[in-house]
Amino acid sequence: MAKSKFKRIVLKLLKWFGIVVALILVILSIVVIVNLNYDKPSLYVSEENLQKEYANTDTKVMAKNLVAQMSLDEKIAQMYGEPYASGMAKLATNFLVKKRFAHIYVGENKRLGIPPWVLSDGPRGARVLGKDVKGVTTFPVGMARGASWNPDLEYRINQVIASEMRANKVNYAATPCINLLRHPGWGRAQETYGEDPWLLGEFGVAAVKGLEKHNIMACPKHFALNSIENSRWVVDVEVDERTLREVYLPHFKKTVQKGKPASIMSAYNAVNGEFCGSNKELLTHILRDDWGFEGFVTTDWLMGVYDGIKGVQAGLDVEMPFQQVYTQEVIQEGLDSGEISESDIDKIVTRSLSTRLKYALIDDQDNYPTSDIGKPSSIELAREAAEESMVLLKNEGILPFKNQEGKTIAVIGRLADLENTGDRGSSDSKPLYVETPFEGIQKHHQAQGNKVILDDGSDLERAKELAGNADEIVLVVGFTHEDEGEYIIFSREQMEEAAEAGKSLGKVTIGGDREDLSLLEQDEMLIKALHPMNDNLAVVYVGGSAIDMSTWEDDVPAILFSWYSGMEGGTALANILYGNANPSGKLPFSIAKNQKDYPPFTPYTKNFKYGYYHGYTLFDKKGTTPAYPFGFGLSYTNFTYDSLAVKTQEISMDDLLEVEVNVSNTGEVDGKEVVQLYIGFSNSTVDRPVKLLRGFKKVHLKAGETKKALLDVAAKDLAWYNPATENWEVESMTYELYIGSSSAKNDLLQSTFIVK
Ligand code: BGC
Repeated sequence: MAKSKFKRIVLKLLKWFGIVVALILVILSIVVIVNLNYDKPSLYVSEENLQKEYANTDTKVMAKNLVAQMSLDEKIAQMYGEPYASGMAKLATNFLVKKRFAHIYVGENKRLGIPPWVLSDGPRGARVLGKDVKGVTTFPVGMARGASWNPDLEYRINQVIASEMRANKVNYAATPCINLLRHPGWGRAQETYGEDPWLLGEFGVAAVKGLEKHNIMACPKHFALNSIENSRWVVDVEVDERTLREVYLPHFKKTVQKGKPASIMSAYNAVNGEFCGSNKELLTHILRDDWGFEGFVTTDWLMGVYDGIKGVQAGLDVEMPFQQVYTQEVIQEGLDSGEISESDIDKIVTRSLSTRLKYALIDDQDNYPTSDIGKPSSIELAREAAEESMVLLKNEGILPFKNQEGKTIAVIGRLADLENTGDRGSSDSKPLYVETPFEGIQKHHQAQGNKVILDDGSDLERAKELAGNADEIVLVVGFTHEDEGEYIIFSREQMEEAAEAGKSLGKVTIGGDREDLSLLEQDEMLIKALHPMNDNLAVVYVGGSAIDMSTWEDDVPAILFSWYSGMEGGTALANILYGNANPSGKLPFSIAKNQKDYPPFTPYTKNFKYGYYHGYTLFDKKGTTPAYPFGFGLSYTNFTYDSLAVKTQEISMDDLLEVEVNVSNTGEVDGKEVVQLYIGFSNSTVDRPVKLLRGFKKVHLKAGETKKALLDVAAKDLAWYNPATENWEVESMTYELYIGSSSAKNDLLQSTFIVK
């Protein structure tokens, strides 16, 4: 009796348990379905609203009118992405279930007919994908493109990225990343364009113009001094005024003033004691008051601002992606205490509205069909970009490999057949396909019927035997998203603890900074084991920044930096290795002989001081010879320089210095050369770099051809920032002028000129 009662109770409990589980499953399924099929509101002002509210064509006036009609809550609703809980559910569900990045909408106001804006990351291709879009054109990473020294190419690339973002129903691009590469160990080095502010500025402008051409709001990031990844949420970067203005900000200034992006993203880190998201000095005094920026500032995602009142006071416009500190309570508290006023809020909302309405008023969405994603010309551009960016560092006459029949080629290494387009953090994009190094080389040899053998190098003896019997070896070494990239860790506390301890606490993480610049041990072992087996061995490096090659570079006859080269990288690599394309990339950073020659760097730190010198300015100042100088890269032909002429020996402070030089291709194949112009400051009365890049031009020269390269430098670009007068000052003195093929002294012709 007691037994059957017990049985009944158990059955009843099980029934209820079943019902609860079923209910939870139903609710979860609904949550998943709803979040996967989220609404995609139009990003454009509708015809009907256009008549009523938007009759005036000046968006500043329109924005003011609209703000005047808003309640405080409606204003606050313009100041963040989506509500935290629902936004997070949407982001997480799409990420976990579909491995896709959801559209996060910002600032829609149905009552007033204001459409939202929506962001996609995309330094190498659109990240947010629309329904049924399988992938996009994926380009080589930013650092690779920086190595092309070809801003026109960058402009064209960003036009494709922008068009494909538009096809995916996005109108705001969280790109370009223009943080300066202070130290090669920075985990996100691959996203930016190099170590030099001038090069960064030229690329920043090109990228922004390319994006904005297609009615995409560009958002250069991360403002500012964001170049230590593993401590990005906690580090406070200390920097003096001169270093800040002359080294870490000029590229932002140029990108803002010449590119005119709609927006800027603040960095996670603090600068001189204040987090960038609430740093008034950066966001208001410098960005707006000094540079005249008229767009709006958004935070970096999730831990970009901690104090809403300080954010308002600093001039931060939008908290992304969710509402965390720009809440009704915080804002009301600030208003009640008098720390902020409603007119501060009005200013913020008017600023973002007047900028984004310009984009919302042009409904050209029909020009961007999804069928255009990955069209042949875009794929072609991805290949061109990969070819133009590869840097040939060493070549003892073995490259290009000969195209002949009956050969056996061994493609060796754990990365040889890996689809490896770089970081899987925010800069990830889903390629339509990826041509690996092995596939590219195999395809190249198909016509000749050559044998291309793939080996992952895991068994050294087998690899050695293969290497000994092959005609040539392509040895692919380097990194993946696991070794470098955005630091994937979800706890700020953990980051803080490691920063306090000054070392990794051994938590499992992905990406991040590289503490040691050497290749992984297995790659070094492979190089050492294989180079004695075959004289025709080319080391191909895949990665985003400098490496320490000191233990093996003398042993190998050829080294090619191929970077994370995008979806067409394999084809481009084969074209370079077999001479269908002539390498024309140049290093966008210096490579030291000894890791100690770089400025100090640690991934785990709460406070870090950035000095005035880094990169080639540091090598020059200390008189240290780098292993490979900034601006260096070989070609399959030779270029010579002569007849350097300064058009006017003396210029005034407002003038332009015009310079010409003859560049000749003295070899037997056509090629492209990057003519570099540096200015020297040896007569300065203040401490200045030995020289600074102030111009460059990529010229195409047929075999045997000579061309006159014309370059100019504005006298105002020779200025230094005097913290005492808070002014940029051009010294009146004799300057050195250097022109040539790299930043190394021996590669440069020299002259002088005077600024009166
Ligand atoms: C990155 C940004 C990115 C944002 C959105 C952040 O973690 O630092 O560069 O735009 O995520 O994905």
